[in-house]
Amino acid sequence: MKKIALASDHGGFDLKESIAAHLLNIGLEVDDLGPHCADVVDYPDYAMKLTAAVAEKKVERGIVICGTGIGMSIVVNRYPGIRGTLCSDIFTAKLCRAHNDSNILIMGGRVIGKELAAEIVNTWLNTPFEGGHHQRRLDKIDQIDASLKAKANL
Ligand code: RB5
Repeated sequence: MKKIALASDHGGFDLKESIAAHLLNIGLEVDDLGPHCADVVDYPDYAMKLTAAVAEKKVERGIVICGTGIGMSIVVNRYPGIRGTLCSDIFTAKLCRAHNDSNILIMGGRVIGKELAAEIVNTWLNTPFEGGHHQRRLDKIDQIDASLKAKANL
């Protein structure tokens, strides 16, 4: 794993800072896309910054945090090729990698504590995608994106 992008809104700021320190501590390179203070900001702006970095392959994967994780989930998954997964437990963190090839981890800074979040991050970073019949399902998601795009261009 090379570089992980991080972003949040004010609701996720404290947890983002903690996760940034955790990632550095375990030897990963971090691209912190902000915000860089706890002032009130709008989550769609930071969701799109982070999503663009992942979609354009400037980083390998991304982690994004708001108060509940819901707003970030809604925004990042509008982007074709992005599989953002909201996790509040280790089991989901494992399965979203193994079955869904999650490329953005989403967490709620007002939902989970820093230690659980660090364990979720570790699990999400270290679990490989299983491929096989799970890849067939991801291919169907890509087909849905392509057909929606074709309809929009009509
Ligand atoms: C901000 O107050 C809050 O709405 C945001 O962090 C997030 O939880 C939205 O889904």
